[in-house]
Amino acid sequence: MSDAQAPEPQHPPVPPQAPQMPQQPWSGPAPSPQQQWQWPQDQQQPAPQWPQDQQQPAPPQWPQAPATAGEGWNAQVHAPAPPAPAPVPQAPVADPQWAAVAAQHPEATVGADGTPMIDLTAAPQARPAPGDVVLTVDDLEVYYGAAVALKGISFEVREGEVVVIIGANGAGKTTTMRTISGVSEPLQSTRGHIAFRGRDISKLPAHKVQRLGVSHVPEGRHIFGESSVEDNLLLGAIRLTGADRGGIAADVERIYERFPVLGDRRNRPAGLLSGGEQQMLAISRALMGKPEVILLDEPSLGLAPIMIKAVFDLIEELAREGTTILLVEQMANQALAIADRAYVLETGAITLEGTGAALLEDERVKAAYLGA
Ligand SMILES: Nc1ncnc2c1ncn2[C@@H]1O[C@H](COP(=O)(O)OP(=O)(O)OP(=O)(O)O)[C@@H](O)[C@H]1O
Ligand SMILES: [Mg+2]
Repeated sequence: MSDAQAPEPQHPPVPPQAPQMPQQPWSGPAPSPQQQWQWPQDQQQPAPQWPQDQQQPAPPQWPQAPATAGEGWNAQVHAPAPPAPAPVPQAPVADPQWAAVAAQHPEATVGADGTPMIDLTAAPQARPAPGDVVLTVDDLEVYYGAAVALKGISFEVREGEVVVIIGANGAGKTTTMRTISGVSEPLQSTRGHIAFRGRDISKLPAHKVQRLGVSHVPEGRHIFGESSVEDNLLLGAIRLTGADRGGIAADVERIYERFPVLGDRRNRPAGLLSGGEQQMLAISRALMGKPEVILLDEPSLGLAPIMIKAVFDLIEELAREGTTILLVEQMANQALAIADRAYVLETGAITLEGTGAALLEDERVKAAYLGA
């Protein structure tokens, strides 16, 4: 945006005389002539910074300065207020990522300042029903440089399901989760498609995927240790808009009822919580955003047995409440026990799939993952 678009600042009073250059080399606090003509600090108009991925299309064209001296653009300092800016044309969305989303959003518009206006949080047209497909992963390949981490995996998650992916170290579980949620690693390249409620999200960055309603509880939790427990929770609500924002305080209280330890320590740094408590906080933070699907990456990792049980109890409770969950785990026994459907991931490929109950009984699963 050019400075000319900023609201017209108030001129400081014009000095009665042109400022005199100091006779001696300037050493005192008196401002230089140039400085006298600068706007006071608190009236400076900061240039607005656009987020990297929302770089604007070319700014609107201002009227050309007319040829006649004394009129128009270059005379604005002394002239009356400038003419109102010409209406901004409805420019096409220039960023290919935005364009891809806009293609699926006929409601997309270009705002008055040229900003592409696409409401990614708009409710789906039909209310989701049990069994509707929420997430589709189709022939997903992921490479880190030349090394293949996922070799074309396909699966789906339906409304209200708990879908589990079990797999050993290095099988590609975290890669799957991170690729769905739009977190890309250096040198990572991806093929295939990921859709959320039928919309292609393969190329969307993490914050846009999250805004759509996909919440990722990452491996290792990644809570903000120096921020308070409550601030961590509030961060989870960042995607909420409209009436949902009004319910944030009540949502926080509900979390404290569910996990009194979080309520007791609401004002303390989250880093002081135990590992299990931090996991509860990480899951609660994700719930604060009222996600449509929650991705849980090895929530049992590094926890004591009693906390592992608490985590699985919580996941089961969320499932009973109808939360749609994609869970990846090495704790195959516990995970399959709460799974509606499950997949086995081995060195980047899905080798088995079935209901949780069926895989618990499968001899190959027993031999490889259940210690039988
Ligand atoms: N950022 C990265 N750069 C290069 N290679 C990576 C990267 N992240 C993962 N990999 C490799 O990709 C493969 C899959 O790793 P991933 O972390 O997805 O496995 P995982 O199933 O989550 O394992 P774990 O159970 O240990 O968490 C592994 O061979 C791993 O070494
Ligand atoms: Mg992992």
